[in-house]
Amino acid sequence: PPVSIFGAPTDVGAGTRGASMGPEALRVARLGEALAARGIDVVDTGDVGGPRNPWTGPADGYRHLDEVVAWNRAVFDASSAILRAGRMPVMLGGDHCLAIGSIAAVADHCRRAGKTLRVLWLDAHTDFNTSAITPSGNIHGMPVACLCGIGPEPLVGMGEQVPALVPAQIRQVGIRSVDQDEKRLVKEHGLDIYDMRYIDEAGMKQTMEQVLLGLGEDSHLHVSFDVDILDPSIAPGTGTPIPGGIHYREAQLVMEMIADSGRMGSLDIVEVNPALDDRNSTAELAVDLVESLFGKSTLMRD
Ligand code: ARG
Ligand code: MN
Ligand code: MN
Ligand code: MN
Repeated sequence: PPVSIFGAPTDVGAGTRGASMGPEALRVARLGEALAARGIDVVDTGDVGGPRNPWTGPADGYRHLDEVVAWNRAVFDASSAILRAGRMPVMLGGDHCLAIGSIAAVADHCRRAGKTLRVLWLDAHTDFNTSAITPSGNIHGMPVACLCGIGPEPLVGMGEQVPALVPAQIRQVGIRSVDQDEKRLVKEHGLDIYDMRYIDEAGMKQTMEQVLLGLGEDSHLHVSFDVDILDPSIAPGTGTPIPGGIHYREAQLVMEMIADSGRMGSLDIVEVNPALDDRNSTAELAVDLVESLFGKSTLMRD
């Protein structure tokens, strides 16, 4: 399907500044050109706007809640318009709080189109905190909970369908950092988590076979790619790096197997932080992996 890229240059949901520069870093790494070179109809519609980062502390368990809501509304509107035009939205973050808006838009679209939505959350973190249990107040640690109906009203009620998701629709891969009370909550809600221990034992091939199991003709797969799923040794440019992440070949296999499924209908690329990066290498790696996500094979298959 034709692709529309848009940027959401903000870090209001994060605890480290700099993810606001992510969209430009991905463009400098030639994301659009890489997809166009694959013969994909791709347009870059530019950036959505929103309030500046006031850089204040948490209030009632949330840092910058009003700003996070405003940015997510802009993302929701942009994603909705792209989906209505019959194109695939690719949202360039920005921090991961923005997946609330992008996925709420996809959930509404799938209901209108009679499609079954599955969300593939590629991340070191489960991002299932609430204001009551967050250690930081940073809303990029809360989007999955918000999408499942646990969170402040303006974020939970972003789209028409509330909650946007039920846990059974979500698969999380690469997980290795979950806060103590968050761990209790993800178990309580039965999230389907393929953590690093699982990946070590089963291998990435079997992991991804499980993750993609049951997708069919009527499935829409949303991929939310937090670059901190990658090991910090290959992806240093991100705000909350966690050691012990997936390496280059594993990441390629993840992307290639998603591409082979033929079901991806929308994508977020989030948490690229150029202020922490080594000569834009993390953005360049993200573009390399996204090429594979769109069907580029590193082997002799095409
Ligand atoms: N669990 C931590 C928190 O809630 C870190 C979350 C990091 N999230 C992310 N999207 N990078 O503060
Ligand atoms: Mn995340
Ligand atoms: Mn993360
Ligand atoms: Mn490449």
